[in-house]
Amino acid sequence: MAKPATQYVCQECGATYRKWAGKCEACGTWDTITEENTVAAFSSTKKKEGGKKLEFASLAGAKEAEPRKKTGISELDRVLGGGLVKGSAVLVGGDPGIGKSTVLLQLAANIAKSGGNCIYITGEESVQQVRMRAERLGAGTAPVKLASATSVVDIIATLKTDEPDLVIIDSIQTMFVEGIESAPGTVSQVRMSAHELISLAKQKKTALILVGHVTKEGQIAGPKVLEHMVDTVLYFEGDRGHQFRILRSVKNRFGAANEIGVFEMTDKGLTEVPNPSALFISGKAGEVSGSVVFAGIEGTRPVMVEIQALVSPSTMATPRRAVVGWDAARLAMLLAVLQTRCGLKLADKEVYLNVAGGLRINEPAADLAVAAAIISAITNIPFSPGSIVFGEIGLSGEIRPVGQSALRLKEAEKLGFSHAVVPTDTSYKSKDFILKEIKYIRQLKESLAG
Ligand code: TYD
Ligand code: MG
Repeated sequence: MAKPATQYVCQECGATYRKWAGKCEACGTWDTITEENTVAAFSSTKKKEGGKKLEFASLAGAKEAEPRKKTGISELDRVLGGGLVKGSAVLVGGDPGIGKSTVLLQLAANIAKSGGNCIYITGEESVQQVRMRAERLGAGTAPVKLASATSVVDIIATLKTDEPDLVIIDSIQTMFVEGIESAPGTVSQVRMSAHELISLAKQKKTALILVGHVTKEGQIAGPKVLEHMVDTVLYFEGDRGHQFRILRSVKNRFGAANEIGVFEMTDKGLTEVPNPSALFISGKAGEVSGSVVFAGIEGTRPVMVEIQALVSPSTMATPRRAVVGWDAARLAMLLAVLQTRCGLKLADKEVYLNVAGGLRINEPAADLAVAAAIISAITNIPFSPGSIVFGEIGLSGEIRPVGQSALRLKEAEKLGFSHAVVPTDTSYKSKDFILKEIKYIRQLKESLAG
């Protein structure tokens, strides 16, 4: 066996050092560097000389459609790009208790019931606990092969003698490879375990799903390399206080990225919400001040979302700004634009922003809706109830056009909205729908006040 090489690895970003240090110079975090002993447990030490010449292929040629297996959960199929691809590796991340184990057990039961050979390996719970969950989900009789294990070597030995269609590993942070003298969940263990499991899955044409823990910043724990190694990365969003859960594909080699699937947590597990476009708006949207409906696009689907703002006087030197469901840095930028270009006095006010329903918006197209909510909150004038808003705001206060405006407006009209505040040059033809095109942010303030 090779002599163990000691190195010090940052558990946040994966940077390696020769000596221990209190602070990671690469990512700036404190107390994240731990000692790890790595032995190339699986790699051969034999040096290769004189490799063989590669054979090139042309871009044109026979193309095979990836064989896909439907999961029986259409919202999940949607985020996967049409079903599970044979030999692909999927990483599912999300906060604890969000529903990763639940949805994967539902998936395993579905595949097993339709005749697939399905293996579920849990490193976190006992077999008994998983059985109890299956009972609760009404899947107690599905022929899923269940095991509680954490040794990757054992798992690989077992999988080699089987022909599984789907293998679920819950979670990759609990797995360990013998020969690496660091604890499960450390960078080298996660990297090596994932590497071994993914290689075997590719070789055996098995679909592999890995559950990944997230850090408190919402990133998948361990090195970014884990996300590079897999074909698809899905994140579970939403918070435990809401019943809605959003599964978002942030990377997908076999389909569109940023596609979302919407689920609702019930007492019988996660149920799908097939048509979520009106889910994130309440009955009072637009009737009270500070509430505006944003016509957003999530993946390929239009979704109407209520954005709520509250502006209140503050006695503090630096007033509070709190955001749920949107980017805090973007809010700071927008407040500066509103203050400078519209003359709104926000420096001595607390600003709270909330995206209803637990959705997280990443689109810059939400800028105008957020601005409208803040202006409506500060002036205490309700935005008109039948209106939707979208548009990006630049630093000079100009409103920039956004993509897929026709799709947004069509869905809004379908849901009964009749007015829209949009950037100039938005083309949409409908005789009943009234568009108000604006070029500068100050026009929004004037239109609300007038
Ligand atoms: P779980 O799927 O174990 O979350 P994760 O694996 O992401 O940590 O649990 C999800 C939560 O949902 C848990 O707090 C219990 C709850 N739950 C329900 O409300 N209904 C159900 O049918 C199940 C199985 C769980
Ligand atoms: Mg779990």
